[in-house]
Amino acid sequence: SGTTETSEARAEFVVVANRLPVDLERGADGTQRWTQSPGGLVSALEPFLRSRKGAWVGWPGVPDVEVEEFTDDGLVLHPVTLTSTDVRDYYEGFSNATLWPLYHDVVARPIFDRSWWEAYVRVNRRFAEASAAVAGEGATVWVQDYQLQLVPTMLRELRPDLRIGFFLHIPFPPVELFMQMPWRAEIVRGLIGADLVGFHRPGGAQNFLWLARQLIGLEPSRGSVGVRSRPGMVQVGDRTVRVGAFPISIDAAGLDALSRTKEVAERAAQVRSDLGDPRTILLGVDRLDYTKGIDLRLQAFHELLQEGRVKPEEVTFVQLATPSRERVEHYQQMRSEIEQMVGRINGEFARVGHPVVHYLHQSVNRKELAAFFSAADVMVVTPLRDGMNLVCKEYVACRHDLGGALVLSEFAGAAAELSSAFLVNPHDLDGVKNALEQAITLDPAEGRRRMRALRRQVLTHDVDRWARSFLEALGSETAA
Ligand code: ADP
Ligand code: G6P
Repeated sequence: SGTTETSEARAEFVVVANRLPVDLERGADGTQRWTQSPGGLVSALEPFLRSRKGAWVGWPGVPDVEVEEFTDDGLVLHPVTLTSTDVRDYYEGFSNATLWPLYHDVVARPIFDRSWWEAYVRVNRRFAEASAAVAGEGATVWVQDYQLQLVPTMLRELRPDLRIGFFLHIPFPPVELFMQMPWRAEIVRGLIGADLVGFHRPGGAQNFLWLARQLIGLEPSRGSVGVRSRPGMVQVGDRTVRVGAFPISIDAAGLDALSRTKEVAERAAQVRSDLGDPRTILLGVDRLDYTKGIDLRLQAFHELLQEGRVKPEEVTFVQLATPSRERVEHYQQMRSEIEQMVGRINGEFARVGHPVVHYLHQSVNRKELAAFFSAADVMVVTPLRDGMNLVCKEYVACRHDLGGALVLSEFAGAAAELSSAFLVNPHDLDGVKNALEQAITLDPAEGRRRMRALRRQVLTHDVDRWARSFLEALGSETAA
């Protein structure tokens, strides 16, 4: 979309996230263009923030570039520069090889490296300074996610007049795992600078409250934390910090409407026929991340084929996998494992012109994604751990026809809301296989019953409700 330079007055409402909602792409010929950034944080926040005309502070996604602030469709974007060293130590290192695996139940081994921690502190300070420069007097600043956990306290020191919220988009780990972190007290102190610290699930809030007592000697309230209600409270000097649970969601009405367009319906039919009109299409859509359990679902599918419980001429698996964090070692390993498995399954079960697994290491646009969701008979979402998982909610939002079935890991935050899915323990391969088989052979009336229940939940709990409930608890918005 058309972007212009600007010199806006300071903003009333500021989102701070590691990434801007758009990524700068530089072609070999030196041309530049902006594309949507990957991941759930941007999918969720972007539609909400556009409707508010706020400001967004974040990194443009490439190292060593200085970009002036600019306006994109009403949204003022304030780029923060990261050098190649920052990207290596703060982003790929501390954020994605320390915090990401630690917070996802240590499904890969976190690396603790002092120089990465130093980079994390340095870059968090840069984000705090950039936010302080952008926010108007008394503004609300909403800091996002695990890359920026020190920003709340750093920002409060610079700008005590601000109202500061923090939301963690990934799981907050069990305290036994969090305690491994050499800089555990510093992180809790960083977060406690916010007026409201939000998590997806009450368990995360509860863990944080326990740590505030154990690690920095505060005295949190003892009652149990509710969903969107009854936040915990911690007194920090003369401030009261609230700690609550706010399950994030999607622009459900927008996707529902998109999936009803003729264009998407036609494209869905085209996808189906391009795949050779199989009886059943299984679909996975993820960033290529080792937490997503892409390998597990392929293994389950492989065994079902080997045991003859699924016929290769009837069932086709499509896996869309957005490239992600490609220089981090665990990601490289996972990618080659997945690609080997795809090759192996096709080697055994494909016929010429008819692969059984279609694997696209690519990102597709929203319309194309809606068409894939509409075409898929079984949506397979099997993370080992996921803060929320928006993909499963997006699938549900696209099924106005009440068709399709959802196989969903118990270890996705979304499982607490989507109880009419086929819930599976991704560590239990037989359980996953059984659920896939059930979903493939599902009676249509039973399928519609389940999908109706899923849609009732997703359409009434959208991202706008999430943001409003958070901002009300932060006290920067009055109840509607
Ligand atoms: P995460 O934030 O860990 O990536 P989520 O499921 O919460 O996981 O969000 C992922 C977002 O990225 C969703 O909005 C999803 O539609 C989008 N996405 C994932 N894979 C692709 C893909 N191959 N092409 C386009 N969008 C994708
Ligand atoms: C998850 C994280 C986000 C992150 C996104 C994409 O959704 O919670 O903070 O932006 O993944 O990952 P990336 O490393 O590419 O920003």
